[in-house]
Amino acid sequence: MAIRIIRKSGDPVLRGISREVKEITPQLLALLDDMVETMNDAEGVGLAAPQVGISKRLIVVDARDEHGLLKLVNPVIVNRQGRDIVVEGCLSFPSLVGEVERDSQVTVKALGTDGKQLEICACGLLSQALQHEIDHLDGILFVDHAIRFIEEKKDEKKDGQD
Ligand code: NI
Repeated sequence: MAIRIIRKSGDPVLRGISREVKEITPQLLALLDDMVETMNDAEGVGLAAPQVGISKRLIVVDARDEHGLLKLVNPVIVNRQGRDIVVEGCLSFPSLVGEVERDSQVTVKALGTDGKQLEICACGLLSQALQHEIDHLDGILFVDHAIRFIEEKKDEKKDGQD
């Protein structure tokens, strides 16, 4: 496993449309493990493959709830219910926090790492994180639908990549 570099705002890979995964290979599983390690190192709730420069439909999410760590291949939202205004950030925008409108509850279909179809019904932080990460696969960033920006985090080290 390895920690990968998280692509920051302005990197064109964040605006690309990711390709569907056709086959779950050992390389793909290794990439998912790297994404988990990168997410945990950055203390994030989720990470999408484009954020480590790979335009494939892969996300990892861990909302520290009963669903545990999720590694999802080709995730799609198949049902949405309710709307909430929530506060969120993104590892690709380390100094930005904003208010965003999200679906309260979503049902997501995806393949698991064993190639079997999964269906996850999520609410709360997990629902928010799944929507955020799946948006990344279509080049959509939280700043695109932020209602307003709340604060610039002052404690983050600037890495000069934005
Ligand atoms: Ni993000």
